[in-house]
Amino acid sequence: MTERETEGRVAVVTGAGRGIGRAIAFALAAEGWAVVANDLGAGPAGGGTDAGPAEEVAGKIRAEGGRALASTADITDSAAAAELVRSAVTEFGRLDGVVNCAGILRDTIFHKMAEEDWDSVLTVHLKGSFNVSRAAAEVFRNQSSGAFVHMTSTAGLIGNLAQANYSAAKSGIVGLSRSIALDMARYHVRSNAIAPFAWSRLIDTLPENTPEEKARVARMKRMTPEQIAPLVVYLLGDDAGEVSGQVFVVRGNEVMLMSQPRPLRTMARNDGWTPQLLADHFGPAVRSSLVPLETSPQVFSYDPV
Ligand SMILES: NC(=O)c1ccc[n+]([C@@H]2O[C@H](COP(=O)([O-])OP(=O)(O)OC[C@H]3O[C@@H](n4cnc5c(N)ncnc54)[C@H](O)[C@@H]3O)[C@@H](O)[C@H]2O)c1
Repeated sequence: MTERETEGRVAVVTGAGRGIGRAIAFALAAEGWAVVANDLGAGPAGGGTDAGPAEEVAGKIRAEGGRALASTADITDSAAAAELVRSAVTEFGRLDGVVNCAGILRDTIFHKMAEEDWDSVLTVHLKGSFNVSRAAAEVFRNQSSGAFVHMTSTAGLIGNLAQANYSAAKSGIVGLSRSIALDMARYHVRSNAIAPFAWSRLIDTLPENTPEEKARVARMKRMTPEQIAPLVVYLLGDDAGEVSGQVFVVRGNEVMLMSQPRPLRTMARNDGWTPQLLADHFGPAVRSSLVPLETSPQVFSYDPV
């Protein structure tokens, strides 16, 4: 799409004050989108508020001749999320795109994970993405147009150590995105998910104890939020009009379409199964097809392109 075609389009970007959301807000503004830059200004593990990041991003877009509004709405609060969406329509007259990018981390090995670590991560990522999407769905349905992009993670798609809360939330976001895509296709509304890799203050919390962990952080530092933004802008625009319910990965200059679960091997018996029959026949038949117990850093161990 040309800048002229996207002129007048309006997006809400959550978590737009820092990291990936910030780069997405600037990239959309550069293409002529009006942007509601939402960011609570929370700490990396949640908690705390700071209007500075959202205001800085909105101010910078306006200073460069664009249209932007800052929002410090806490997306975990459904009323605040609804007000965030309303503010886009009130200020700019419509809403065309929603980018769910706000996030926090509370990494702990599973057998030590506190209920509070589970609740806070699930609430910000999964419920927050639901709250904003649900409010925007009303607008999109009435307009019969609109597009969502949600941030998932390879921690959810593949797995990672000490991130049960985050992995569950990010897997949940894939289910949310796909469900929105299915339910809202009749209104020409699209929904896609991206698992990004980018150096940000969120990744600054990654452990650097072992040589492998140090190498992983060094690799992460070579990947930037600015490399994520073009795919988001493309997915929100009409050029991606046939793309919905998909999961992508961006890693440096590499863009990937991910597979989604489908039956891999099937066996059926007219008389049904017993545990022993499964052990004797099904187990050996699928053994070579079992997915290895790998983490995301093990799968993505090569240097970024
Ligand atoms: N950086 C990566 O490599 C990476 C990898 C996989 C997934 N992601 C995902 O990408 C998204 C952006 O991550 P990032 O690395 O840019 O992190 P970041 O910490 O730089 O930015 C996240 C922003 O979300 C805001 N936020 C937190 N809670 C909020 C709330 N309740 N309401 C509104 N705003 C809130 C924070 O204030 C922060 O500015 C997250 O969803 C993250 O899980 C990032």
